[in-house]
Amino acid sequence: MKIAVVGKGGSGKTTISGVLARTLGRSGHEVIALDCDTNPNLGLSLGVGDTETEHLLTLRDMVDEGTADHAESWDEILDSYGADGPDGVRLTVINRIENPEPG
Ligand SMILES: Nc1ncnc2c1ncn2[C@@H]1O[C@H](COP(=O)(O)OP(=O)(O)OP(=O)(O)O)[C@@H](O)[C@H]1O
Ligand SMILES: [Mg+2]
Repeated sequence: MKIAVVGKGGSGKTTISGVLARTLGRSGHEVIALDCDTNPNLGLSLGVGDTETEHLLTLRDMVDEGTADHAESWDEILDSYGADGPDGVRLTVINRIENPEPG
């Protein structure tokens, strides 16, 4: 299942996303959260913490600037550019996925 949360600025996207992801994670589902916001702070809602949330943004900026390599696969994105929250949600902060694999 894939859920996308979009809407106007300040309408509650990050709050809703965090609650959904954490609730599903606590229920035993494997949850991957993608923060594609220009000002990403989903990590705070997920309980990943300030430092790790900032680190993931720095990594995304480095990939965009060309000072870090694009991941070659979805697994590598999650391994190299992801962090775990306390409810079993794996977060990554990305702008886009180029040439996504089917599914
Ligand atoms: N269901 C709700 N009821 C009341 N307040 C809420 C609700 N959801 C979010 N808020 C509050 O509204 C504010 C904006 O929420 P949030 O940051 O989740 O929105 P956003 O759409 O992600 O914003 P942005 O566009 O800046 O990223 C926050 O102060 C949050 O606590
Ligand atoms: Mg937000």
